[in-house]
Amino acid sequence: MQSPTRTKLIEAFSNANGEFLSGQALADILGCSRTAIWKHIEELRKEGFELEAIRNKGYRIINTPKNMTENELRLGLKTTIFGKTIHYLESTDSTQKVAHRLAQEGCPDGTLVIAEEQTNGRGRLARVWHSPKYTGIWMSLVLRPKLPPAKAPQFTLIAAVAVAQAIEDVCKISPDIKWPNDLLLNGKKITGILTELQADSDKIDAIIMGIGMNVNQKEADFPIELHDIATSLAIETGKEISRSNLVKRLLENLEKYYLIYLKNGFAPLKLLWESYAVSLGKDIIARTISGNIAGKALGITDEGVLKIQDYNGQIHEIYSADIEI
Ligand code: BTN
Repeated sequence: MQSPTRTKLIEAFSNANGEFLSGQALADILGCSRTAIWKHIEELRKEGFELEAIRNKGYRIINTPKNMTENELRLGLKTTIFGKTIHYLESTDSTQKVAHRLAQEGCPDGTLVIAEEQTNGRGRLARVWHSPKYTGIWMSLVLRPKLPPAKAPQFTLIAAVAVAQAIEDVCKISPDIKWPNDLLLNGKKITGILTELQADSDKIDAIIMGIGMNVNQKEADFPIELHDIATSLAIETGKEISRSNLVKRLLENLEKYYLIYLKNGFAPLKLLWESYAVSLGKDIIARTISGNIAGKALGITDEGVLKIQDYNGQIHEIYSADIEI
């Protein structure tokens, strides 16, 4: 993690909204000398920020780095909980593994672990999650809601809505949600969500919410076996997408829906989720650990459980499955 002074400096520039901040004002906000400010400004420049410095006016940011950096993620981030603590890693085996460790060590609610590359990224059912360098968003959030463990699966649905809206905001395309954890564009996967738990029998200690988004990969960046089932936002839009903008919008949306959920439960978010859901009203097969159920997807309950009506008219409530449409 970077020094708290650097974090405060970027917060000061965020609050200034592109206006100049004098060296003295920065020294007062940060509680350090003007020489120390100058050194931190130089470090920001090395990170790829372009700063204008004018005598008698001070400093302002005029351009941000091309790559995703920790400070670029913080600049202009409008959250109060999510992403206030950031662990930014150039490379790691799995952000999910790092987040689990940090959660056990007592990290705060909303801690973000984000990596440029994962060498052992994993998905549901211990599948491999392909995470090549500088192309996607590989992140895990630690959440600490005061709730019973049975509520954890709803967080996957909340995350799916937040991701869908972030994609709409930044890329101007609308993805489909496939219950419970996939986001699709033209039938191919662009995002997967992995919700894991640290809990005792009656209360959650931490939810580790892993999100993997395929952003700027080209077709050749995917292994051949994924060509028919996975795609990226760049492939679908024909444009390179700013990963840091996407992460910021995602954190803001997630925090908004997390707070609504904590106050009012899942019911107010259910309609929103259903508006993105691709399988509702369609014939599907749910592959569960106790066998396959084929039928029509009716919708989800107020708890986020999928309801399927089989061809004998019987209604099944599905808590966990792979869905084939
Ligand atoms: C799935 O669709 O099976 C879920 C995929 C989740 C992948 C993300 S990438 C960031 C985090 N770290 C991991 O190792 N996995 C999750």
